[in-house]
Amino acid sequence: MPIVDTFKSEIIAGLRETPKRIASKFFYDERGSQLFEAITQLPEYYLTRTEISILREHLPAMAERIGTGATIIEFGTGAGVKTKMLLEAVHNPRAYIPIDISREQLTHATTKLAERFPNLEIHPIFGDYISEISLPIPSDAGKNVIFFPGSTVGNFTPDEAIQFLRKAAALIGPDGSLLIGFDRVKDIRVLEAAYNDAQGITAEFNRNLIRRIGREFGVAISPEDFDHLAFFNSEESRIEMHLVSGDSRTLKLDDEEITFAQGEHIVTEYSYKYTPETFAAILTASGFSVQDRWCDENNYFEVCYATVDHK
Ligand SMILES: C[S@@+](CC[C@H](N)C(=O)[O-])C[C@H]1O[C@@H](n2cnc3c(N)ncnc32)[C@H](O)[C@@H]1O
Repeated sequence: MPIVDTFKSEIIAGLRETPKRIASKFFYDERGSQLFEAITQLPEYYLTRTEISILREHLPAMAERIGTGATIIEFGTGAGVKTKMLLEAVHNPRAYIPIDISREQLTHATTKLAERFPNLEIHPIFGDYISEISLPIPSDAGKNVIFFPGSTVGNFTPDEAIQFLRKAAALIGPDGSLLIGFDRVKDIRVLEAAYNDAQGITAEFNRNLIRRIGREFGVAISPEDFDHLAFFNSEESRIEMHLVSGDSRTLKLDDEEITFAQGEHIVTEYSYKYTPETFAAILTASGFSVQDRWCDENNYFEVCYATVDHK
């Protein structure tokens, strides 16, 4: 599963598009992962604590759905906080397969989980879950369950999400299922505050991409050269994060010259917000049937359990 070596080529390709784009998976170098953890603690960032509250309340029901002896495959483990909660609830899991593009996060999270669950087989995969994934253990050795929390699915466009989830369904086989968290459409002020926190941590997280580009390409460019912008695009039902160039500048990235106009935007993240109906439609189009759904008292966030269709 090649990943790190595509950083430079993907950055150059994205910066040659109009509008310029950087894939959100590149946020997660060591510093980016630490900043993301800080974001999850912010008062404005309701997503993490809301999803955790849903898990805390409904994990017994989720574990019942998952059943005994399942292999849990996680897309984007992060710090593994929700994973620990899930693995404590699931009945006698057969194995745990975390996949993450951040090597530091993956090492740190799996070390802690291995200490907490010494008898559990853990097979970490360092890589990009968008590229081809093959399971390190036979996929027919019991039920495979994908855990995909954090509303990370919202970083895909709806069409990309369907393509991705179809591949996921093929990976886990006909007995497979999916436990997935997504963020619901809500008051625009709540949405926009979550990506524009008062302490500026999200801005630092966004601008850390510039620091990473400077480091990996060996070019003199500073995060302060770009402004953070995040807003809700209601037509598309998504938060958009952009970086805005303060000045016009030309960067030499390996053999490519990339020119930025003053005020030019780079799109760095989409975070789609769904209603229960629009998200159920994504799951149906991806070959999953929704079996159960849980949400918080404010209707901010939803966790869905869906099984692979047998049609
Ligand atoms: C929004 S965070 C969510 C972390 C955690 N699952 C949670 O719910 O708090 C996204 C995580 O997915 C990882 N990630 C993002 N894009 C990825 C990709 N294409 N392949 C593998 N991991 C990815 C990041 O490194 C990060 O740990």
